[in-house]
Amino acid sequence: MKNFLTSTTLFLIISFSCIAQQKENRQEDIFIKNLLSRMTLDEKLGQMNQTHFNTTVDSMCMKVRKGQIGSLLNIDPKQINRIQRAAVKESRLGIPLIIGRDVIHGYKTIFPIPLGQAASFNPRVPENGARVAATESREQGIVWTFAPMLDISRDARWGRIAESLGEDPYLASIMGAAMVRGFQGNKLSDNNSMAACLKHFVGYGAAEGGRDYNSTNIPIHLMRNVYLPPFQKAIEAGAATLMTSFNDNDGIPSSGNDFLLRTVLRDEWKFDGFVVSDWESMSEMIEHGYAKDKKDVARISLKAGMDMEMTSETYLKNIKELIKEGSVSVKDVDNAVLNILRIKYRLGLFENPYVDEKVVSTIYSPEHLRKARQAAVESAVLLKNANNILPLKSTAKIAIIGPMANAAHDQLGTWSFDGDKNKTITPLKALQTEYSTVNYVYEPGLTYSRDKSLNFYKAIKAVESADVAVVFVGEESILSGEAHSLSNINLIGQQSELIKAIKSTGKPVVMVVIAGRPLTIERDLPYVDAVLYNFHPGTMGGLAIMDLLFGKENPSGKLPVTFVREVGQIPMYYNHNNTGRPAQDWIPAMDNIPQEAPQTSLGNTSFYLDSGKNPLFPFGYGLSYSKFEYSDLQLSATEIPQNGSLIAKAVIKNTSKVDGSEVVQLYIRDLVGSIARPVKELKGFQKIFLKAGESKTVEFNLNAIDLAFYGRDLIKKVEPGDFEIWISKNSDEGLKGRFVVR
Ligand code: GLC
Repeated sequence: MKNFLTSTTLFLIISFSCIAQQKENRQEDIFIKNLLSRMTLDEKLGQMNQTHFNTTVDSMCMKVRKGQIGSLLNIDPKQINRIQRAAVKESRLGIPLIIGRDVIHGYKTIFPIPLGQAASFNPRVPENGARVAATESREQGIVWTFAPMLDISRDARWGRIAESLGEDPYLASIMGAAMVRGFQGNKLSDNNSMAACLKHFVGYGAAEGGRDYNSTNIPIHLMRNVYLPPFQKAIEAGAATLMTSFNDNDGIPSSGNDFLLRTVLRDEWKFDGFVVSDWESMSEMIEHGYAKDKKDVARISLKAGMDMEMTSETYLKNIKELIKEGSVSVKDVDNAVLNILRIKYRLGLFENPYVDEKVVSTIYSPEHLRKARQAAVESAVLLKNANNILPLKSTAKIAIIGPMANAAHDQLGTWSFDGDKNKTITPLKALQTEYSTVNYVYEPGLTYSRDKSLNFYKAIKAVESADVAVVFVGEESILSGEAHSLSNINLIGQQSELIKAIKSTGKPVVMVVIAGRPLTIERDLPYVDAVLYNFHPGTMGGLAIMDLLFGKENPSGKLPVTFVREVGQIPMYYNHNNTGRPAQDWIPAMDNIPQEAPQTSLGNTSFYLDSGKNPLFPFGYGLSYSKFEYSDLQLSATEIPQNGSLIAKAVIKNTSKVDGSEVVQLYIRDLVGSIARPVKELKGFQKIFLKAGESKTVEFNLNAIDLAFYGRDLIKKVEPGDFEIWISKNSDEGLKGRFVVR
């Protein structure tokens, strides 16, 4: 009887909520269509126009009163109410503006850059970060963020890898959806929610040569199986908007690509939010050689399905003429305007357009700072720890060396222009505050990452006076991010020379990297005993690093992107195809190749003579102060139907004396497909906590449908056949099994 009541109650709850949602949708539809019916064509074109603060407030208000602007981006939050009043009180229809901003990894409280958040392999980290960002932003009147960035990136030369969630579509899907949930909360109209914007749609991270804005050449199968899935998952999570990317893919700029914006986004994914261009990405179609002039830009973009134009104003100035000549229709305009009004409605802007200037600010609240610190702890990756030099003894005298030990601005990373560097807790500041009992001496040796100085005398003396050296190296924030690609990703300036000089003292050396991308650090490894890698860890990064160095926290991060040995190995990523000549285990070290070696003596397979076939560190790699042993892989079935599933489980034991967290990863390989399939694909991960000596059985439920992909016929389906499966600690090893899909 009890079960009957429970299921009946559940059914009624679900039914009533569906009815309520349908009622809400109807009200929304009636409202926006009624408003549209009262708009002039000029007012419609105004809604499709987003501009930035390129004039005085008065002249901006005048344009707003005339209905020429629907959205503003990156304006001074202190001006929002005044300009919003011009829209709501002084324009003919009182349609509120939607105010957008690049709140990528925090508004004031800055979290680790997204690449770092992905390294946590804990969706709560990006969800919390986005929640904090939305809370701090919405109270300032910023209701729309241009995040999450979901560009899959397999190229560390590309500066915007910093903003990405790494090289894997599954990880990016999970983390991107978590960010959408964090930004958008329960309801877009809540006073701590903001509309997410999935960017950059699509394929921007595949820029040829890793050079930003460069062309991409992503074939349709890779597009369908790697680059599009994170966007689809984030839309399923309810994302309100998307932004098109700068790149042309196979010659078609995304801002004019109707296959993407109509066929995929609207017809297949049923997306009902709106699409905004990137900054002048529409008018740049002239530079691309894809549009003749601005009128052509407006025609191509509107026909392709672009709803809102960021900063290039071709819609405002050309659509009326295009309608007159029949190149586009009022219906095209109406569809775009309805998409925009729909999101403004859902944001509650029609009822509540203004900033409550009396609100008690949540900016830098203790709770926000605590979450930022925890995020930085979980985002750090321990890459080396020879002789367990870490964690450091609290009684040791530490020499704090390097240009990144007290880099308050750079620690915040790219896209943090609202962060206040005076609030940054650098590693040095952490030692001057919470860790003031530590006995340390500070000599940077270099004043900034690009410093060319070779005067390390003071730094060496400091190290000689200490028990251990901790060298903070990496990148200033300006060296990654948009338009900041590098062709050489070694430690810049004289940082490697500084490390060598410190090592010459004979003291143990810990290298702490604070950077915006995976750097090629192989040449530095022989001179250091431990490496803790931080992707620009944000406001609380210094405390998080000290928490980890002194063992208050145990590192748990895993690499969301492959670390190559040489920049010349790029692109190198774990989920690659096998090729017809995969490199074998034996690779000749170049110096051992005999002179006049016969042509085929080295084996005709896929590797580099000088850097072999493997990266420095693989995707999913990360050490801990604990030791985790994997054993006893079991599959609930070795044969499943195409609509079936199996349970894969293994026992994970913490064999150390230190409690710690481990990211247990599930990989599969589809051995034969209608197109060649990757040698490994991440299909699950679980971050578990194990006390010293504790064992836990970790189970993954693998549904055959999770193995579906777009095959030769471009139809997404499960293809029967043989599969391999791993439960592992990274993408390069693990407990291996096999199963068949019938
Ligand atoms: C930039 C970036 C985009 C950003 C937009 C607004 O050029 O490509 O990511 O959101 O312009 O600042």
